Amino acid sequence: VFLGYPIWWGEQPMPVQTFMRDHNLNGKTVIPFATHEGSGFGNSLSVLNEYYPRATIRDGFQKRGTTVEDDLSGTQNEVNQWLQGLGY
Ligand SMILES: Cc1cc2nc3c(=O)[nH]c(=O)nc-3n(C[C@H](O)[C@H](O)[C@H](O)COP(=O)(O)O)c2cc1C
Repeated sequence: VFLGYPIWWGEQPMPVQTFMRDHNLNGKTVIPFATHEGSGFGNSLSVLNEYYPRATIRDGFQKRGTTVEDDLSGTQNEVNQWLQGLGY
C-alpha cells in the first residue's frame, strides 16, 4: 500500500490518520511518500509504526513540495529511481 500525504505539524494530517485508523494495514507492506517544507518525514514514520506495528514499512520518498513544481522532470526521475530501488 502506497500511503502519500503532506506533512502537517510533523506528521500525517488528521484526515490521513482517520484513514489509517479505519484501515488496518498490519501484515501488509506500507510504502510512505510525503511532501513537506523542511521537516522531511518528521515524526510520520513513528506514527506509521504506532498504527501498524506489524506492517512491513519500506523505504519512502519525501521531497520539499515547493521544489517539485520547480523541476517536475527531475522529480519524476527521483521517483522512478526510488521505485526501481524498491524493485518496482
Ligand atoms: C497546517 C499545515 C501544517 C504544516 N506543517 C508542516 C510541518 O510541520 N513541517 C513541514 O515541513 N511542512 C509543513 N507544512 C507544509 C506542507 O507540508 C506543505 O504545504 C505540503 O507538503 C504541500 O502539499 P499539498 O500541496 O498537497 O498541501 C504544513 C502545512 C500546513 C497547511
